[in-house]
Amino acid sequence: MAKTPLVTDGTVFFIFGGTGDLTSRKLIPALYNLYLDGWMPPRFAIIGLGRTSLNNDQYRDQLAKGVNQFSRRGKADAGQWKAFAEHIEYQVSEISSLDAYALQAETIQRYRSEWKEDPIVIYYLAVAPRFFTTIAQNLARQGLARELKKSRIVIEKPFGHDLDSARALNKLLCSIFEENQIYRIDHYLGKETVQNLLAFRFANSVLEPIWNRNYIDHVQISVTEQLGVEDRGGYYDEAGALRDMIQNHLLQLLCLVAMEPPVSFQADEIRNRKVDVLRAMRKFDAEAIKKGAVRGQYGRGWLEGKEVPAYREEKGVNPSSNTETFAAIKFFIDNWRWQDVPFYVRTGKRLHQSASVISIQFRDVPHLIFPTETLESWQQNRLIISIQPEMSIRLQVQAKRPGLEMMLNPVDMIFDYHGTYPDQSPEAYETLLLDTMLGDQTLFMRGDQVEVAWELLMPILNAWERKKSLNFPNYTADSWGPEIAEALIARDGFHWFTLPVNNRYGG
Ligand code: BG6
Repeated sequence: MAKTPLVTDGTVFFIFGGTGDLTSRKLIPALYNLYLDGWMPPRFAIIGLGRTSLNNDQYRDQLAKGVNQFSRRGKADAGQWKAFAEHIEYQVSEISSLDAYALQAETIQRYRSEWKEDPIVIYYLAVAPRFFTTIAQNLARQGLARELKKSRIVIEKPFGHDLDSARALNKLLCSIFEENQIYRIDHYLGKETVQNLLAFRFANSVLEPIWNRNYIDHVQISVTEQLGVEDRGGYYDEAGALRDMIQNHLLQLLCLVAMEPPVSFQADEIRNRKVDVLRAMRKFDAEAIKKGAVRGQYGRGWLEGKEVPAYREEKGVNPSSNTETFAAIKFFIDNWRWQDVPFYVRTGKRLHQSASVISIQFRDVPHLIFPTETLESWQQNRLIISIQPEMSIRLQVQAKRPGLEMMLNPVDMIFDYHGTYPDQSPEAYETLLLDTMLGDQTLFMRGDQVEVAWELLMPILNAWERKKSLNFPNYTADSWGPEIAEALIARDGFHWFTLPVNNRYGG
C-alpha cells in the first residue's frame, strides 16, 4: 500500500441503491481504487442496501463485473479484489420499512464492538430523489443521525426539481442533520481539472491583475456531449438541460471562474465566495430571457456512421415532449470585477463533440501595428481551460510564423496534464468519497448555494414551461445545436469556441 491513510477511524459505508447503476459504475470502482491506492481507512465496511434478494457472494460478484467494466484501471486483479470484497456485505432493505434501519443500527453496533471504537457512518443515497425524504426520516426515527461528528449523509443530484422543492428538501434535511453532516454531490467539483481551477487562479500571481472586466472581454463555458439520453429518458424528460446540467455543473464552473479570492482554503470560506457570485448574478426578466436564453431539442441524425433516434423517440420520453436537450444562456454578474462582461454558457446532448471547455477571451490590442495582409487569422488572446476529455490549459497568443515574411497567426502555449503527469488522475468520485470520509465539505454544495442557483434559473424555467417551443426538434445529432444558439453569441460579435483539431486553429 502506497500511502498512510488519512482517515484513521473505522468507517461504515451504507449505500442505499446498492444494486443500482451508480453503485456499480462509479461508487464501487471509486472505493476499490481508493483501496488500491492505500487511501481507505484501516478498518472499513461497505454495506449495499437493495430490495433484490442476494447473498454476500452474489452481491460481490455483481460488483466485480462493474469494476471490471468501469474502473479506470480496467479488469481487477483477482487477489486484490477478493481482499477488498471481504469488506462488502449486502442487506435486503425496504426503504420504507423501519426494520431495515434497525438492522443498520445492529450492524453499526456489531462493528463498534469488533473495532472497539465509534465508527464514522456514511449513508450514501444513490437512489431516485423521491426516496430522499423517507430515508432521512427513517434514519432519524432509528436515531441514526444523532452522532453529529461521525454520521454523514450524501445526497446525489438532482437536489430538488425547482426552488420550492429544493427548499423543502433542505428544510427537512436540516431538521434531522446539521449542515456539516450533509454532503450534496456535484460530481463536476471532484474532477481533477475543476479542482485545478482554484490552484490555477489563486496560486499564480500573474493572473489576478488581469482577471477582471478591464482585460476580459467575455467568458464561455461549454459542456457538450455526443451521448443522447440513453436509458434515462424517464428522468431526463422531467428535467431537461437547464435542470440537469446548468443549475449545478455549469454554474459551479462559472463560480470557480468568477469568485473573489478566498481568505483561506477552508470549505466555508470557499463556499461563501461562490455564493457571493450567485447572489451577484443579474436576475432574468422577460426581455433578458428573450435575448439571452435559447433552448433546443435534438432530432434524428447520424453519429459516427450510426443512425440515432430523435429525442422524442427515445425510451421513456413523451413523443410530444417540450423538454430541452440543449440550452445556451448569457449571464451577467453585477459586481466590480465583472460588470458587463458576458458569461455565455451552453450545454447539450447529441452534439458534434464531447468536450467541457472554459474559454476566457481577453480584450483586443488597443492599436494594431501590423498591416492586415500579415494576419492569417486574427484572434484576441484566449485562455482555454479544457476539463475533459482533453485535460489542458492553453494560452492562445498571436505569433510570427517562421519565414522571411512577417505573417501572424494564433498559437497555443499548452500545459497538458497527461504530458506533465503521465500517471492516471483519480476519478471525481474517488476524490468526493475520500472527502466524505475525511469530513471535508469544500467540494460539496451547501444548502444556500443550491437554493440561490435555483432562484436564478426559475424565471427561465417558468417561462419555458409556460411557452412551449413550436419548432422542436430544432437541431440534428452531430451538429453544434440549434442555429439560435449561434445567433445568441454572434449578435455580440463572438462565436462559440471549439477546441482545435491537431493543435491548429482553422481560422
Ligand atoms: C450528469 C447528468 O450529472 O452529468 C448527465 O445528469 C450528464 O445527463 C453527466 O451526461 C455528464 O457528466 P460527465 O462527467 O460525463 O461530464
